[in-house]
Amino acid sequence: MFEEELQNNKMQILGKLAATLVHEIRNPLSAIKLNLDFIKLSSGELPAEVNQSVNSCLEAANRMQALVESLLGFSRKSNSNEKNSINDITDIAVSIMQNNAKILKIKIEKQLDYSLDDLVFDKNKILQVILNLITNAIEASSSNGIIKVKTYGETISKECIYTLEVEDNGIGIKDEDKNKIFGDFYTGKKNGTGLGLSVCKSILEEYNAKLDFESDYGTGSRFFIRFVAPNAEKE
Ligand SMILES: Nc1ncnc2c1ncn2[C@@H]1O[C@H](COP(=O)(O)OP(=O)(O)OP(=O)(O)O)[C@@H](O)[C@H]1O
Ligand SMILES: [Mg+2]
Repeated sequence: MFEEELQNNKMQILGKLAATLVHEIRNPLSAIKLNLDFIKLSSGELPAEVNQSVNSCLEAANRMQALVESLLGFSRKSNSNEKNSINDITDIAVSIMQNNAKILKIKIEKQLDYSLDDLVFDKNKILQVILNLITNAIEASSSNGIIKVKTYGETISKECIYTLEVEDNGIGIKDEDKNKIFGDFYTGKKNGTGLGLSVCKSILEEYNAKLDFESDYGTGSRFFIRFVAPNAEKE
């Protein structure tokens, strides 16, 4: 128990350090971007290769800025009551990942239930969760793999639940690893950080949503995000 508390405390400190670091990176990063924009203004006078390099640097800087903003957004407490459609966010997530998947010859298919009502959540945070799940599904799949992303309503213990499911027919998860995968820093990959799923869990807790999975080693996995639907809350 003490070990667990110590680890939680370390994670909180690490979270604060990361947020501070990213905050401090933001200003020099905008300076780099401004200077690159300035160089671009005189693109007519520069050789084509230099222009190309400047454009690549700008693209990379824009991507870094988007990552910085999303991490800072994650560290901000959200108090918005804005309603969003899980289908729209799923569409965005799939279109972001589609290219990566295509290169690896993996298909991403969508089966979305458009009759679902909108839910209260921060769209960037839920987008981050879906992107993490699809990334894991891609990393677990081999060439010709198929990933299915579904949304549907279901009744579980008399509660109306909206489920977003990410299914893959990849490597699957061994029984002995099943209770480890949500832990901080647990990874079965050479280059993994092991933070993806624990970040998903903490984001979803904010919206009273649950993350579960079923998996058979050698057959594939299904991850479920379960939101309590608005009409169920009224009952
Ligand atoms: N769809 C999946 N199929 C098989 N194994 C999975 C799947 N999703 C997660 N896992 C297992 O759970 C582990 C933890 O996943 P998590 O997303 O937290 O970290 P990661 O993917 O290893 O690293 P990161 O997401 O930080 O880059 C993975 O390393 C993998 O072993
Ligand atoms: Mg991951």
